[in-house]
This record gives sequence, structure tokens and C-alpha cells, in this order.
Amino acid sequence: MKRRLQPAPPPAKYQISDAEFAQFQKLIFNLAGISLSNGKKDLVTGRLTRRLDHHGFDSFAAYYRYVSKEENAHERQIMVDLLTTNETYFFREPKHFDFLREVASRHRPGFPFRVWSAASSTGEEAYSIAMVLADTIGAANWEIVGTDISSRVLDKARSGHYSLDRIDGIPRPLLQKYCLKGNGQYEGTLLVTRELRQRVDFRYSNLMAPAKGLGSFDMIFLRNVMIYFDPETKRKVINNLLPYLKADGHLLIGHSETLNGITNDVVAVRPTIYRRATQSPPQAQQK
Ligand SMILES: C[S@@+](CC[C@H](N)C(=O)[O-])C[C@H]1O[C@@H](n2cnc3c(N)ncnc32)[C@H](O)[C@@H]1O
Repeated sequence: MKRRLQPAPPPAKYQISDAEFAQFQKLIFNLAGISLSNGKKDLVTGRLTRRLDHHGFDSFAAYYRYVSKEENAHERQIMVDLLTTNETYFFREPKHFDFLREVASRHRPGFPFRVWSAASSTGEEAYSIAMVLADTIGAANWEIVGTDISSRVLDKARSGHYSLDRIDGIPRPLLQKYCLKGNGQYEGTLLVTRELRQRVDFRYSNLMAPAKGLGSFDMIFLRNVMIYFDPETKRKVINNLLPYLKADGHLLIGHSETLNGITNDVVAVRPTIYRRATQSPPQAQQK
């Protein structure tokens, strides 16, 4: 069989040695728990090249020295923004939103129904949750917290402003109720209604050590982020999150992820949907 010849990719502007790459692997692991395989060398050079250009460095070694200096926290945040993968979309893995609707419709007034979109990326997950809760519970008595380690995606999430080509997954009735179509200079975009935007609190938080004061949750969405972690880091992240789950709360993970061999503290109620195996201590029960 004849093989079609692929054109060779253009040579990278800056070369990175194995030893330099290992330094970046260690740095992003220490900062975010993300394990970058050796196969991600091109990704790292591709995404960081513009930072070398920006500072006028002529090598990754020089950039590494700069970004790892204690006082250069701002550059470290930019590097984290560039090295995290933020792919997401509205109503991703729709069965989870059917489950949310089911649970929320049984919720009794009293305490607010609280959901945490942990690793919320640009906000589509948190707003999908908001649409379901507003539609099921009504205007009051629910809260959503969205957290991420990337400040760039958090800014985008807070804006609630998306391109119209992102709306495919949104069920039509919810689209009509909770999204505004842009006109004029905003043609081709949608804005999540102010009513929903005001109900979602987006905050910076690292899953390796979640921020204090988040309260406790009826449901935690921890989806499509553990794929970047090694087993030990997954264990650490799950142990960090579980104290935030109410005794009868649910933890949802991505469809390609598993908690097998990671924790015995949850039991599966459906594929990728878990509840706590044991009762939580009284102080972690309610906000
Ligand atoms: C692929 S997105 C998943 C978004 C959404 N949960 C979904 O399923 O569509 C992964 C997100 O995890 C975030 N992330 C990676 N490591 C993190 C950490 N240590 N703490 C908090 N967020 C993290 C990334 O910034 C990125 O936005």
C-alpha cells in the first residue's frame, strides 16, 4: 500500500532538551498536580514559545530560571494558564444532568441545594448546572461554586459570554429561557442571563489544596480533570474533596475516569456517580 508523505512540521523556534523538559514537568506537577508525559514535549514548546518571545529569552533554560523564581508568581500563573487543557462544553455527558434534575427535584426547602463545579474551566459546566437547577427548583434556594486553577478561564467563565457555535448541547427550552442571543457587534454570540450569572460564584482554587470556606455540597462535579493526574495525586485530590460533600451528597466524575483503586470512601450508585460510603463528621454536614 502506498503511504502518502506528510509534510514535515516546521522546526520549533526554540529547542528544549530532555533535562529542560523534565524541569517543566516537575514544575507543573508541583504547582497543579498535572503529570505531563514525555510525549507532551511539543505541546509544552508550542504553548510556551510566545512567553520566551514576550520576555526576549533565547532558550527554555532561561525562561525556566525566570518562571521558577519565587517573586515571579504572575508568570507562573500565565504558564499554568497555558499548560492546562481547558476543553469543555455545555451539557457535556448529558446523563449527569438528568441525574442532577432527578436529585434536585426531590430536594426539600430548608438548606439551599449546593453544587460545586470543581475544575470548571470556562464555565459551561457550571452554567449547565445552573440552567437545570433554575428550571427544577426555581429562582431561589440553590447555589453553585465553580473553581479552577487557571485565572484566564475563570475570567471567561465570569463573563458568561460564548460563541454561538458552542450551544449545541443546550436543550432548546433552556436555551430560550436562560440565554440571550447577541445582536449588532455581539452577533454570533450568546450571553447567559444575568439571573444565572449572578448565581454562580467562580473562584480560583487548586484541587491539590481547595480553598477554605467553600461550605458543603449536595453534589460535586469533578469531571475530566483526573485524567491529568497520576494515581497518587488522584487519591490526594479525592481526599481533599470528600470533606466538602454532604453525607447524602454525590460525586460525579468524567465518563472516561474511574475511582477504582483510588478510594474506598465512596460507592458507585451509577457508572461515574458516587455517594459517600461512610457518614461524614457532624461539622462537615451543612454550610
Ligand atoms: C478539561 S477541563 C474540564 C472542564 C469540565 N469539568 C468538563 O468536564 O467539561 C480541565 C480543567 O481542570 C483544570 N485544572 C487542572 N488542574 C487543576 C488543579 N490542580 N486545580 C484546579 N483545576 C485544575 C484546568 O485548568 C481545566 O480548566
